[in-house]
Amino acid sequence: MPSVITQPVVSKLTRAAIFLVVTVKPEPQCEEAVRALCGDLASLLRAVGFRDLNGALTCVMGVGSDAWDRLFGQPRPAELHPFREIKGEHHAVSTPGDLLFHIRSMRMDLCFELATQIMSRLGDAVTAVDEVHGFKYFDERDLLGFVDGTENPVDQDAVDAVVIGEEDPGFAGGSYVIVQKYLHDVKAWDTVPVEQQERIIGRKKLSDIELDDAAKAPYAHNVLTTIEENGEQLEIVRDNMPFGDVGKGEFGTYFIGYARSPGRIEKMLVNMFVGRPPGNYDRLLDFSKAVTGTLFFVPSATFLANVPAESAVAVSGDGTADASPTPQRPSDGSLGIGSLKGESTHE
Ligand code: HEM
Repeated sequence: MPSVITQPVVSKLTRAAIFLVVTVKPEPQCEEAVRALCGDLASLLRAVGFRDLNGALTCVMGVGSDAWDRLFGQPRPAELHPFREIKGEHHAVSTPGDLLFHIRSMRMDLCFELATQIMSRLGDAVTAVDEVHGFKYFDERDLLGFVDGTENPVDQDAVDAVVIGEEDPGFAGGSYVIVQKYLHDVKAWDTVPVEQQERIIGRKKLSDIELDDAAKAPYAHNVLTTIEENGEQLEIVRDNMPFGDVGKGEFGTYFIGYARSPGRIEKMLVNMFVGRPPGNYDRLLDFSKAVTGTLFFVPSATFLANVPAESAVAVSGDGTADASPTPQRPSDGSLGIGSLKGESTHE
């Protein structure tokens, strides 16, 4: 099998991120504009990222289930489906989204510039349905005050957790991602004694040390999100980011989880929202409301670079399409840039 380059799903932690979810208008020229962007994303990233290589700019593009059919048809990734809402002790909503752009950098201005370039390329072909600007909060803490991300797998373990292999050979090198935007009731959380907060998360608040198994509550977040199959732990890679709007009293966590199968993230969600066993749910949800929920497939970078675009189509404000020459793409199938440090190849 020729080597396939993954998108930079497993990326180093950054200070800033933009999570941009858009829907694609149901018109052929709009879908064509998205296909044209697929091949051009690498050069946009190269142009913006080269202005400060220390900024470590990366972008992961995901495609929703319905959008996949409209943009690429058959074959389709084996486990791609719309996000399924969960109604348990709490409600995990399913919200629209055809494309996800997960843009990360050490500098928000680089993220902002790339998001601007992507949106100006797509023009009126898409409608932004959610845009969140995330920031790192002190030592990787969420706005509930706990360090978030500690138990993420790293290096080869991370690649093994997120990159599709022989289970779906046509889409090897791809991945799945689920995003959920959570809003916290910080005032209510702050009334909870720290010892009880620690039981809810399963770790010490100040030191981030994990509680002893014997001391952990059965509903602890890190108990319910630890899942196994055939005696092996099934891992995912998270890169949650705090966000907020102080004036509006909005304090949130943008959850983003990558995995080689969406089933493992869905299983964690069922444990959290319904409970394991049912009723033993995640108390974090008493203080955190999921207001979005969407699942995307992350094709390999090689797939994106080779998306055929008959013509690059710019869609203008009145919905008409202007065809321009087909853009040049790297011939080696790579995104051809130095900033994709987190990427890996899949043989
Ligand atoms: C309000 C949203 C959330 C917040 C504030 C949050 C926060 C945290 C914190 C503080 C930890 C402990 C440190 C760490 O290992 O990262 C953690 C662990 C973890 N979280 Fe979340 N989380 C949220 C949502 C989710 C969701 C929706 C999932 C999966 C569907 C998830 C999966 C995990 C996993 C797998 C771990 C590591 C468990 C372990 O192996 O110890 N989290 N989370």
